[in-house]
Amino acid sequence: MLCRSNDELQLLVNQAKDLCPDGKVADYIPALAEADQAKLSVALFYPDGRLYSAGDTKENFTLQSISKVLALALALIDHGEEHVFQWVGKEPTGDPFNSIAKLETTTSKPLNPMINAGALAVTHMIKGSSVSHRFERLLEFVRCLSSNKDIDYNEEIAKSEYETAHLNRALAFFMKQHGAIDEKIEGLIDLYTKQCAIEMNCMDLARIGCVFAMDGRDPETDEQLVPLDVARICKTFMVTCGMYNASGEFAINVGIPAKSGVSGGIMGAIPKKCGIGICGPSLDERGNSIAGMKLLEMMSKQYSFSMF
Ligand code: DON
Repeated sequence: MLCRSNDELQLLVNQAKDLCPDGKVADYIPALAEADQAKLSVALFYPDGRLYSAGDTKENFTLQSISKVLALALALIDHGEEHVFQWVGKEPTGDPFNSIAKLETTTSKPLNPMINAGALAVTHMIKGSSVSHRFERLLEFVRCLSSNKDIDYNEEIAKSEYETAHLNRALAFFMKQHGAIDEKIEGLIDLYTKQCAIEMNCMDLARIGCVFAMDGRDPETDEQLVPLDVARICKTFMVTCGMYNASGEFAINVGIPAKSGVSGGIMGAIPKKCGIGICGPSLDERGNSIAGMKLLEMMSKQYSFSMF
């Protein structure tokens, strides 16, 4: 069943919002600690151009880990599957997103592109003549997918993460030692923190989700923005690793490709059906939006989202 109105969606938002006080906003990136824990927004973008939204839809948020899907798509476009997967694996970890443990105990190749180590290896592969050129290319790609040329990054949040990203620096230095990264780590961290700080609202995010849902085609112009195989790979990672160590439970309770970020954003891409953008900054203990997860469970039941 399809959503029929903003009011219908608002009823679900009102129920899910009850969970906001039970979570916590991320504070390991100091600027994220200022987010309003009580906010929740959602948008659904259907391939015929219909857009439904509810909650605090005007709020902008940074993509954080959701950007890992977009950087992966660009790196795959830049280099092709064979090259990219020489440097990053395809397996879920079951560990927290910033864990360093498996890097040492497995092959020193990060297990997948959705954990921080893998995402750093992917961002390293984005082509360009300088860090700023590589970032400009990524930003253009995101503007194109969202059909919003005004999308930019939040300088304050990027700076705040850059100044405190010691764990990510450690992951990057470890991979540099093992030959997986061969650029200056400060430049890579600059690019990665700007990538994570790309900012938008839930409607923009739902549109990007819809492009992936439609196998890489622009829902309005039908242009192939992302090659079909690249869109397929991204959606598969979203299913197996998109919600970190909650991915298995999420597959049972919601059953769609989705990617979360510590800002409280979640992007969903339901194959051939619709794109979803959510933001609720209050997080559960595994770093996913607590009300956003509840909302997805409720929507999945009401609209029969599950692919399984
Ligand atoms: O690298 C980091 O730690 C953040 N910029 C992104 C992490 C993130 O969003 C994990 N999400 N659940």
